[in-house]
Amino acid sequence: MADANGKIAEKTFYLETFGCQMNVHDSEKVIGTLEHEGYRRVDLEEDAGLILYNTCSIRDKAEQKVFNRLNDYKKLYAKGKRFGVLGCVAQQEGERIFERAPYVSLVAGSASYRKLPEMLVQIERGESRITGLDDRQTDETFETEFTARSNPHRGYITIIEGCDKFCAYCVVPYTRGKERSRTSTSVLAEARRMADAGYTEIQLLGQNVNSYRDSEGKRSFAELLAAVGEVEGIRRVRFTTSHPRDFTRDIVEAIDAVPTLCDHVHLPIQSGSSRVLQLMQREYTRDQYEERIAWIKAARRPISMTTDIIVGFPGETPEDFEQTIDLLAVTGYDAVFAFKYSPRPNTPAITMADSIPDEEKSTRLQVLLDRQREIQRANYDKHIGQILEVMVEGRNEARGQITGRTSQNKTLNFTTTQPIYPAPGSYLPVRVTKSFPNSLVGEAVI
Ligand code: 5AD
Ligand code: SF4
Repeated sequence: MADANGKIAEKTFYLETFGCQMNVHDSEKVIGTLEHEGYRRVDLEEDAGLILYNTCSIRDKAEQKVFNRLNDYKKLYAKGKRFGVLGCVAQQEGERIFERAPYVSLVAGSASYRKLPEMLVQIERGESRITGLDDRQTDETFETEFTARSNPHRGYITIIEGCDKFCAYCVVPYTRGKERSRTSTSVLAEARRMADAGYTEIQLLGQNVNSYRDSEGKRSFAELLAAVGEVEGIRRVRFTTSHPRDFTRDIVEAIDAVPTLCDHVHLPIQSGSSRVLQLMQREYTRDQYEERIAWIKAARRPISMTTDIIVGFPGETPEDFEQTIDLLAVTGYDAVFAFKYSPRPNTPAITMADSIPDEEKSTRLQVLLDRQREIQRANYDKHIGQILEVMVEGRNEARGQITGRTSQNKTLNFTTTQPIYPAPGSYLPVRVTKSFPNSLVGEAVI
């Protein structure tokens, strides 16, 4: 709450996250930093002196959601609360946010979070129009020992921030700044600290983890992956997101060699048509993508594959779209995150006419999702009878089931005849008895 001079007396904050896993993890670091600065996190906006939104601008819908929320500020501002907009909408819209939402005191993009403690002091002084927007050319990453991880068993580690790929549709290079990697020494030290604290699963994060470059020159991405997998106490390592152009064969070799590396690769294709890939400036062809799929399929363990797809990119013909549909079966994905193309500010594609009507985009999206559902139904069905190791996530009281996740990142809901339920974070073998297109059902084997 602010006193008569507009200063915040009680240091409490509310933080809400929109968008991707990078944002979720950034928020964990922001929360840790605020707590270190003496702030207490509260669950309701009503109870907070400082209200923060960590925002996403990947598609127009995500951005509109944020602005709709900002409209509610007036009432809360009158009660003395202060507001900050963090993340991708903050970086993209910058000071324009102060015009659209005059109650906002702070606008800061992710490349400036290192300066959060100073920006907090400015808020406490009652300053307005505080910005953290000019750091996108920095070589530094946001490393902090005060990360407030929300799950005690499974946690993220950022290995690379920003992106230099400049795909024609994408805001990320503009919102998150240029690519910069942490040293592998620092990443491994964090992995060891997490293992010591009881974490058994680590997910390495970056917009494009495959272009990881160790500034100390010690390890390639595949070597870093293997080294994290060999940290004592770590049982599962995941990584996301991969870019097909930089996805090298040694990553598959690392998965073959190190059993703790999970058998799952998320490799966004975006379109199955080489012509559209070129328009998107993706820097690979369909044939090159299929070559990578062949490496993954040749691995010793079956590796689950998932992808992202954009439908209705400017100029996508029905034939181009057919090629995307065809690719679904060629790869046999276990999950597809599909989106209608959304024109974004600052991106090269904004100058192309958004030529596919929304209705047609919706039709294509639905055709794709229907086709993919059938592929998943067949894929998941193949697990029936298998015994898979799950990490326990929690319980579904209503259904009397325990929820677990397999190494392939599939949800496996199961029952047990044991009188005591397995604890979240524990690992156990489960026999699969039934399948759905998005989850498996089974019984614990003990
Ligand atoms: N429109 C629609 N989808 C997009 N994505 C990125 N930018 C856009 C856009 N302008 C999708 C891509 C990416 C995922 C995170 O979001 O598929 O891989
Ligand atoms: Fe994440 Fe991209 Fe959304 Fe930013 S714009 S939150 S990087 S998905």
